[in-house]
Amino acid sequence: MRQGRKALITGIAGQDGSYLAEHLLSMGYCVHGIIRRQSVAENQNSRVWHLGSKVTLHYGDLLDPFSLRRVMAAVLPDEIYNLASQSHVRISFDVPAYTIQTNALGVFNILETYREVCPSAHFYQASSSEMFGTSVDADGRQRETTPMHPTSPYGCAKVLGFNIVRHYRAAYGLFASNGILFNHESRRRGSNFVTQKVVKSAVEILRGVCDVLELGNMDAQRDWGHSQDYVRAMHLILNHTEPDDFVVATGETHSVREMVEYVFGKLGLNSDEHVRQDPRLIRPQELPYLCGDSTKAQEVLGWRPQYTFKTLLDDMIEGERARQGA
Ligand code: GDD
Repeated sequence: MRQGRKALITGIAGQDGSYLAEHLLSMGYCVHGIIRRQSVAENQNSRVWHLGSKVTLHYGDLLDPFSLRRVMAAVLPDEIYNLASQSHVRISFDVPAYTIQTNALGVFNILETYREVCPSAHFYQASSSEMFGTSVDADGRQRETTPMHPTSPYGCAKVLGFNIVRHYRAAYGLFASNGILFNHESRRRGSNFVTQKVVKSAVEILRGVCDVLELGNMDAQRDWGHSQDYVRAMHLILNHTEPDDFVVATGETHSVREMVEYVFGKLGLNSDEHVRQDPRLIRPQELPYLCGDSTKAQEVLGWRPQYTFKTLLDDMIEGERARQGA
C-alpha cells in the first residue's frame, strides 16, 4: 500500500487517466488530476465522474505554465504522470501546430515546473510506439533500442517529448522515466480510434440502426493491449529503483482487417457485407506495422499483460452492448 502518497495525473479525464486513478486509489494514494476546460462541462470529467470526491480535480493546461505551477505548488506530488496530449494521430495532420505545442512544448512546460517546484518527485511521460514510425528491427519487433523514424506530426512531437525527458534526467538528475506504450484500448476508448469505432458500429449494425462502416487503411497492423494492463506498467515504471525507459506491449500484432473480422464474427455478422474502405480516411503518411518487445518491462519490472487480443475485444463488445442495450 502507498497510503498517503500523492499522485498528480495530467489527462486524468482520458481513458488511461481514469484507469490509473482507480489503480492508484486502490493502493491508498491521494489522487489529484488536471482537467482542461471544455464548453460541455459534463464531458470534462465523464470518465472520472464515478470516483466523486475520491479524486481532486484542478483546472489546468500543459500550454499554461502558470496553471501548472499553481497546481503543482498546491499539491506537492510524490508522483507525476503526464498523460495529457493531443492523442489522435490522424487529427495531428489537421492540427499539427497545436499537436506539436501540446505534445512537445507541453512536456517541457511540465518538466520545468516539476524541476522548480518538486524535484524530488518521480515523473512519468506517456511516450508512444508511434515514435518508431517505419523503423522495425530485423526480428520484426520494436524495442527500447529501435531507431525512431516517426511518420506523423503526433509521432514527431512525441519524439521531442521523449528526448526532453531523457535530457532532464541526465542534466538535472531527476527521476524522469518514459513508458513507450503500444496501442491500448478499453471500453472507455474514444469512438474515433479504430477499435472502438469498429465495435460501436458493429453493435449499431446488429441493432439495425446503421448498415455500413467506412474505414481507412485496413492492412495496418497494430499491437493492441488493454489500458488496465498498461496503467499497471506506468506505476511500476515510476516505482522502479531508477529512472529508465520501457516498452509496454503484448508482442502480438494483428491487422485492422483481422480485428474487424473478429468483432463482426463475434456478433454473428459478416463484415464483407458492411465494411467499405474509404480512401479519404487514409492518412497522408501511414504507419504500416507495430509489434513491440516488452522483454525489459517483463524482466525488470515483473509486468505481464493479462488481456489477450481476443479478451480485450470481448470486453469492449460487452461494454458497448451494455451501453447500447443490445
Ligand atoms: N482512427 C481510425 N479510424 N483508424 C483507422 C481507421 C479509421 O476509420 N481505418 C483504419 N485505421 C487504422 C489507422 O490508419 C491505424 O493504422 C490503425 O487503424 C490504428 O488507428 P488508431 O486507432 O487511430 O490508433 P493509432 O495507431 O493511430 O494511434 C494510437 O496508438 C498510438 C500508439 O502507437 C493512439 O492511441 C496514440 O495516441 C498512441 O500513441
